[in-house]
Amino acid sequence: MPNIDDMTYLNTGWSGPSPKYVVDAIKSRLEFESFNCPTSPEVLESAKQITIESKALVSDLFKCQSDEVLLTDNTTDGINVVLNGLPWKPGDEVVLCDLEHPSVLLPAYNLQSSKGVRLRIVSLNGNASHKNVREAFSSVITGRTRLVMFSHIQYSTGLRMPVSAIASVAHKVGARVLVDGAQGPGHVELDMNALGVDFYSSPGQKWLLGPDQTGALFIRRNIIPEIHPSRIGFGFSSNFNLQGRFDAVTHSIDKFSMSTTSSPLRAGYNAAVKKILKQDISKIEQRHLELATRIKTGLTSITGIQVLSPYEGSECSGLTTFSIDGMESNYVTHKLWKNYKILVRSIESHQAIRASTAFFNTEEEIDILIEAIKRLAKKRKKVALTPIAVKGRKKKQTVGFRKVGGAQ
Ligand SMILES: Cc1ncc(COP(=O)(O)O)c(C=O)c1O
Repeated sequence: MPNIDDMTYLNTGWSGPSPKYVVDAIKSRLEFESFNCPTSPEVLESAKQITIESKALVSDLFKCQSDEVLLTDNTTDGINVVLNGLPWKPGDEVVLCDLEHPSVLLPAYNLQSSKGVRLRIVSLNGNASHKNVREAFSSVITGRTRLVMFSHIQYSTGLRMPVSAIASVAHKVGARVLVDGAQGPGHVELDMNALGVDFYSSPGQKWLLGPDQTGALFIRRNIIPEIHPSRIGFGFSSNFNLQGRFDAVTHSIDKFSMSTTSSPLRAGYNAAVKKILKQDISKIEQRHLELATRIKTGLTSITGIQVLSPYEGSECSGLTTFSIDGMESNYVTHKLWKNYKILVRSIESHQAIRASTAFFNTEEEIDILIEAIKRLAKKRKKVALTPIAVKGRKKKQTVGFRKVGGAQ
């Protein structure tokens, strides 16, 4: 991974560093398109093949059918396809929880204000047990629930959610289940049937180590006709005339397809997914967890540190969130980068720091982080709650009850 050799990169949960095989795939496709004329039959045909290959690869990764895969720009894009396409009635209820990313919260808030949908927001501890999560969701899922939506792995604390258990409660009352899979692919093993979800929206740029602006949305085949395309592009109709008549596509997932897309980015995405599929994903997942355990063990030996993530069991993931008593999270991430070249992120809603441990990280890198945190924690009395202006950062915005910063 040449682009991160001179640092400790622990931020794959935001964006994974693309390896050479991904960069090479993008480059070679870009050169092919640029050095041949863009609309030649060869270029057009090979672009089509890249799309077909993307869908086939995602269907292997998700263990679903390729006609249940829509290629999207990112997770948020896919979430919007579902939320803005379901046929809402005023009074319909959507169940979600308060650990969610703005990509879940904001589209849901928009539904509330634009469609009269009622939100039932469950309050959860970031390290809640699966039993508690299930009970909390079950207590608000009723006959009025139209959709239950939540992240597979919570970005805030790394809590891995009991997806199939929540899905089965939701399905008993006829509700649909949308999972924000931003932290899923390349991080944990996936199987759409075993998860029991109706929709799963995912990116290419995080644990798959693919390029930005790539992603995929799974929609269970029998539900495709239920979702109306909220933005209309080339896939909407293949039979129309110049007098305003058209036959709308209803059953094919292609009805959501817009227009021109980037084949080089898709080629990079394919290279990323292919590589992950060649590995034993259960071993990759194990490695993520092993390194996360090493962080948690190291942190708990330091005075003044609170680990907010689940400590052990099936609630854990490769995301570990912690805070240093009395220190602003932005101050800590700034110091880690400036003094130690360690890249982690701040979770401002929890005044916490999040480290992502990916399979390419090493034990030595974890130890470098622990040592740096030890040193920072020693200084905590001196700098307690001293706000720091980080160059280039925008002023924090206040949204309702929680402060949010950059939403990645
Ligand atoms: C849980 C979760 N949802 C959504 C997003 C946004 O993802 P994307 O940029 O792919 O839309 C993120 C990004 O960090 C995330 O962690």
